[in-house]
Amino acid sequence: MYGHVPTGVWSAPGRVNLIGEHTDYNDGFVLPFALPFRIAVAARARSDGLLAVTTVGDDGRPQRAEPVPVDALAPGGVTGWAAYPSGVSWVLRHEGFTSGADLVLAGDVPAGAGLSSSHALQCATALALLGLAGTELDEPGAPSRAEVAAWVQRSENEFVGVPTGLLDQTASLCCVKAHVLFLDVRSGEMEQVPFDPAAAGLDVLVIDTRARHSHGGSGYRERRAGCERAAESLGVPALRDVDPGGLDDALSRLPDELGPLVRHVVTENARVRRTVELLRAGRIAETGELLSASHESLRDDYRVSCLELDLAVDAARAAGALGARMTGGGFGGSAIALVPRNERNAIGDKVLATFAERSLPAPGLFTAVPARGARRDI
Ligand code: GLA
Repeated sequence: MYGHVPTGVWSAPGRVNLIGEHTDYNDGFVLPFALPFRIAVAARARSDGLLAVTTVGDDGRPQRAEPVPVDALAPGGVTGWAAYPSGVSWVLRHEGFTSGADLVLAGDVPAGAGLSSSHALQCATALALLGLAGTELDEPGAPSRAEVAAWVQRSENEFVGVPTGLLDQTASLCCVKAHVLFLDVRSGEMEQVPFDPAAAGLDVLVIDTRARHSHGGSGYRERRAGCERAAESLGVPALRDVDPGGLDDALSRLPDELGPLVRHVVTENARVRRTVELLRAGRIAETGELLSASHESLRDDYRVSCLELDLAVDAARAAGALGARMTGGGFGGSAIALVPRNERNAIGDKVLATFAERSLPAPGLFTAVPARGARRDI
């Protein structure tokens, strides 16, 4: 693409979140795992201080962004997809890692499916730019993976202008194969919890509903702002601090429109902890009920589901899933279902038939196996 061989190739995965939705920006708990789908970045330093980025789409056709001087990058200065890699370059320059670079991005994380393709892109870009500056993760003196996740979040919040939490970046950087990552967002504490559904005769079926509702961005902002207002009126730093035992009291002190948000966050944090306890005890099948309860809470209290997500969840459950829920921010995107392995195909067919009956586009189906986090490949 740029007429020379890259110095290296770095990649980062997309994720699904098993449970713990809309809890990250409330200082709570999340439980994601990395998907085997990744975005890879081939990179080489440039001596003229420019950042030149090309992505290769599904169709194999390259899209080139206008090269920009790294020193001149500023929030709002780059729009569209190129804002994501540019923002990472911007934040790394502030952290002292300066490099003009040629980058070529390609991958197989389904775009717009709520599986964090944008975070895979940002995390892979971060690794590539650090690598060009002579810094490889996990080597002595390198920033920690959690630190890089925080930088990527800053880039997304301040440069791209999307107020997301820490879930997706941390998942892409810190997940390991065959485990879910139990992250306490407030303390930064992480536990890799073994997660092997196949050994229990189960599969995690991902259902990409293909729905992409345009009000997703504003819906996310409103929910987040609502949580902040609720925490302020309850006099706590974040909704994480509302104890399940004190929930009724908290609800009685809140205006009607904020109560359901608080109820979701408080009960969801409790469901994450319970899921982790069950997984530690090897009782994976029993987590299904918690997944379904999470979905109901996101649908009825947090109100971030949509027709297609509800349809996928209901159809999977009716066909024999042990539990199912939307995953990610909502307003479209993907659902997950915990299904008996030998019923996986029948359940998938039922979901497809349900969508066909409603004349909705056929969902994309795949089985998700927990894969490794970001790394240097070549
Ligand atoms: C999106 C955001 C995350 C998180 C989820 C909801 O994926 O990027 O930070 O808030 O929504 O759990």
